[in-house]
Amino acid sequence: MLPSVYAPKDFKRLRASGDLVARCFDFISPYVVAGISTGEIDRLVAQFLKENGARSSDLGYMGYPKNVCTSVNEVVCHGIPSDDVILKDGDIVNVDLTAEFHGFHGDASRMFMIGNVSKQARELVQTCQDALNAAIAVCAPGVPLSEIGKTIEAVVKPHGFSIVRDFVGHGIGKVMHDEPQIYHFYDKKYDNIKMVPGLVFTIEPMINTGTYKCVIDEKDGWTTRTADGGLSAQWEHTLGITEDGVIIFTEKMLHD
Ligand code: MF3
Ligand code: CO
Ligand code: CO
Repeated sequence: MLPSVYAPKDFKRLRASGDLVARCFDFISPYVVAGISTGEIDRLVAQFLKENGARSSDLGYMGYPKNVCTSVNEVVCHGIPSDDVILKDGDIVNVDLTAEFHGFHGDASRMFMIGNVSKQARELVQTCQDALNAAIAVCAPGVPLSEIGKTIEAVVKPHGFSIVRDFVGHGIGKVMHDEPQIYHFYDKKYDNIKMVPGLVFTIEPMINTGTYKCVIDEKDGWTTRTADGGLSAQWEHTLGITEDGVIIFTEKMLHD
């Protein structure tokens, strides 16, 4: 039995955590423009989470020093917010936000395009979002986990972009990272693991314009860049398998 299988009452909590993450993105979005530092984005996230009774799942995780990850251009993931990193026209930046609210984690990331962005960068960002959405669309009880990677490959390959192999999606719920690992490329060992109602996990493809290979910054131990300096994009949602399909937790709830 996979550990990240949750009961319906837990799905209510996961829905609330995911809603909070989505609303935090709405809160920061107007500020994510040329001239802001990623350090300021971090402070905005911290402020929103505090005001809403939540906490950053990242802060202190394995010694991670900030509330959110901000990954600019060739940074694949785990970019550490800094007052010295100022967003400028033409940049693409991923903001990856994980929050704990009433004991449950929600994890999502989005791309922001700053001002006039190159055609290639726009295609990369759009293809990555399309890949995530296509992968979500195949999720349902009984579907092998390998369908996720298969679907992402089918969307990404025609564009000639590469899929990062060093980082995976993950089970999530009462802890941020749990089994199973979710591969963003086809792996036949996942043909035999089937989605079941209650399974909660992320899909978070990272795709690059050049090589899929990544290098971790030796100085900070976190910042992960493309090995060739090419651009990288990522989108992420937290999902739950229901009796008849899939629910995206990290979208805003429609309040009554
Ligand atoms: N949000 C990341 C993920 O998608 C995890 C961040 S790890 C941290 O799994 F160290 F930066 F906190
Ligand atoms: Co994340
Ligand atoms: Co994640």
